[in-house]
Amino acid sequence: MCGQFITFEGGEGSGKSTQLARLADYLEKKGYPVVRTREPGGTVLADRIRALILDKTEGATPGAAPMDPKTELFLYLASRAQHIAEVIRPALEAGKIVLCDRFTDATLAYQGAARGLPKAEIESMARFAAQGIAPDHTFLLQMDVSKALARMKARGASNRLDEEALQFHEAVQRGYTALAQAEPKRIVVINANAPIPVVAAQIQEQADAFLS
Ligand code: TMP
Repeated sequence: MCGQFITFEGGEGSGKSTQLARLADYLEKKGYPVVRTREPGGTVLADRIRALILDKTEGATPGAAPMDPKTELFLYLASRAQHIAEVIRPALEAGKIVLCDRFTDATLAYQGAARGLPKAEIESMARFAAQGIAPDHTFLLQMDVSKALARMKARGASNRLDEEALQFHEAVQRGYTALAQAEPKRIVVINANAPIPVVAAQIQEQADAFLS
């Protein structure tokens, strides 16, 4: 596999999608072949799974229970398996740089740290879904949680997970921090409280370093 797999992680409203687009533009200008994608989603089938997972009306039918955390986990992994088979693996095999908005770290932070599913089980199932594909580099955008949620509200866009309580998002943040501490070489923590161009410049500098 001769491409590079770079993921962007962070809580809601941390600005990772904006930063992914900025890095993609920057690398394309330098002549690199770049694939921009995201999870859940990234293929027609995976986008249908995304719609199912993030549907705010899910569980709202009278008498219906809310989505079980294990169901949620399997849906994220189902989306990932398809995404890898259809988009990520072929792109990496073709030597491209894949920039992906969220991957397995999100599963460990959200379904693990925040939902409370056991880490070892998630890691083993996520490994099976990923079939040997793992990020080479990850940018973790860390931002004050209440500030990020206020930004999300102002934007007006919210999904089923955005609407979780503050404690849920704080648990996500702690989960990400623990992952970064465990894998400091792969996961670069970026202070996303800084202005967008400042954050973008930091990410570009790091990317230049590991792509050179
Ligand atoms: P997005 O808002 O970054 O597009 O991500 C959609 C939501 O899915 C977000 O709330 C994070 C959540 N998520 C998980 O809970 N587990 C996962 O494995 C992934 C990829 C995303």
